[in-house]
Amino acid sequence: METEKVHLKKENETYLITLYGKALDSRKEHPILNDTFANAVVRKIDFDFEKLKTPKGAEVSLPVRAKHFDGWTREFIAAHPVSTVLNLGCGLDSRVFRIDPPSTVNWYDVDLPDVIDLRKQLFPERHACVLIGSSVTDPGWLERIPGDRPVIVVAEGLLQYLTEQEVIALFSRITGKFPEGQIIFDAYSRNMIRFVLLLAAARRARPSLLWGIGDSRKLEKEVPRLRLVTEISFLTLPELVERISPSGIGRALFRVMGLFMKKMVRHFRYEF
Ligand SMILES: C[S@@+](CC[C@H](N)C(=O)[O-])C[C@H]1O[C@@H](n2cnc3c(N)ncnc32)[C@H](O)[C@@H]1O
Repeated sequence: METEKVHLKKENETYLITLYGKALDSRKEHPILNDTFANAVVRKIDFDFEKLKTPKGAEVSLPVRAKHFDGWTREFIAAHPVSTVLNLGCGLDSRVFRIDPPSTVNWYDVDLPDVIDLRKQLFPERHACVLIGSSVTDPGWLERIPGDRPVIVVAEGLLQYLTEQEVIALFSRITGKFPEGQIIFDAYSRNMIRFVLLLAAARRARPSLLWGIGDSRKLEKEVPRLRLVTEISFLTLPELVERISPSGIGRALFRVMGLFMKKMVRHFRYEF
């Protein structure tokens, strides 16, 4: 029997695009992430997802990105079975269900209050998974979380919406609270952000992206406990290159583009 569908108060939100990209992947014969939870959530929402302004290739790039961060998160949990996970800007992502951590892991999904309200209507409750409706820039939410365990902070598709000061303040609060941990995130290059800011100024519009990284070592100076562990160019991830185009020529062109635009989008793993 079909249950009653959930209505959206806001449409064209970024978390709907990432959700839909993962749902489309799960419908394929050979999925990348196989996020069947994403597909189930899409089916519960009363909305025509075809209307979304989904970027070309999103059904490949978004599952590849999520799978990469799932991998780093799993590695951390395997090394620290008693730990805390902070999934910041979680949107409608089902990472906690995909990873299914042991009950010794305390998991926190954090996003803006209206997104968390929507999440509560769409996902079942889960033991040791707490939903927090707050801006990550508000210091209050972190004060509610015990700081006695190693922590992994996942910020997928989030930090570009914050200012540089907000990112540094957030990382400083986290590294000041927990004994040790990792922060993993994706970020655009500074040049890409400069371009977006210029375009927005010319159009007298609000810029869609705010923060990006140039030299990844600079963050170590701005947040002194942080040490860079890994920096990977997203456009050169083998699974992305393999899956982005059905033709050999398409993949070859993508490889060349990836070499020229190495810094445009990167995945970072810092530890402290
Ligand atoms: C592109 S979506 C990514 C969602 C999810 N991480 C994923 O990959 O599917 C960006 C998310 O960041 C959230 N977000 C933006 N600014 C935020 C803030 N200041 N505090 C908390 N969440 C924020 C948005 O509400 C949205 O859910």
